[in-house]
Amino acid sequence: MSEAAIIDGKGFAAGLRARVARQVAALKADHDVTPGLAVVLVGADPASEIYVRNKRVQTVEAGMESFEFNRPADITQDELLGLVRELNQDERVNGILVQLPLPRPLVEQPVTQAIDPDKDVDGLNVVNAGRLVSGLDGLFPCTPSGCMMLIADRLGADLSGKRAIVIGRSNLVGKPIAQMLLRANATVTMAHSRTDDLPAECRRADIVVAAVGKPEMVRGGWIKHGATVIDVGINRVPKDGGGTRVVGDVCFAEAKERADAITPVPGGVGPMTIATLLHNTVIAACRQRGVAVPAV
Ligand code: GUN
Repeated sequence: MSEAAIIDGKGFAAGLRARVARQVAALKADHDVTPGLAVVLVGADPASEIYVRNKRVQTVEAGMESFEFNRPADITQDELLGLVRELNQDERVNGILVQLPLPRPLVEQPVTQAIDPDKDVDGLNVVNAGRLVSGLDGLFPCTPSGCMMLIADRLGADLSGKRAIVIGRSNLVGKPIAQMLLRANATVTMAHSRTDDLPAECRRADIVVAAVGKPEMVRGGWIKHGATVIDVGINRVPKDGGGTRVVGDVCFAEAKERADAITPVPGGVGPMTIATLLHNTVIAACRQRGVAVPAV
């Protein structure tokens, strides 16, 4: 069997951002609407600072308004909730994202639950989680939405008859993508750290989504011949000869010998997250202004 096709998430994300930019231009021209995204960063975590900067740059490049709120790590929970409530009321702001993780002792759940569900472009509010499970329209988490676009691009939007396994059960990725796969008619297994004989479960799957945060945990022998492999992991590991390198949750070199298609790390799922965030912001703006959401 030949080697797997490499799924070009970076290229796909660039295409999606270009389509979102066209939607934004049309919204401005036809409806005088400029979508606005507010991003809240608490503290000075270097990785979060990079993510937030990339979000700002790509938001502006797409023609949208970017509002950034940097708050010190010693902000109180009440002050942070107050900021979220102000943004809920601000008509220029169509989407709100509070960058996670929050520094201790801040607690994430009250903050994500305080975001107006119609501005919750991260899809983390329980209202949106419920809408996803119930098959209703809502705003859904960005990374899983990006994964689904890559899967649909290879296999089509209808996954009837396909078995999918999701490894990892986080609120940000594992749980929502399992629901999305189910909505697309896949037969879904949710696996996690307590699953018995994970390799055997994995070998039954036509679609493998790995989102556990464990470097190269999924081995080549776990992959069914011809499967589609979506690697959500971003793990920094020591490199031979010093320094570090980034690897996924899947051992890429092994898995590509058996898969039909596989996302690389970096350059696979990662770039899709901000592109789908921009897309969610356009959807939120359209719904808030009573404008039909243009096709992407
Ligand atoms: N930190 C890492 N990924 C994410 C994300 O998708 N949303 C938020 N809010 N924070 C994150």
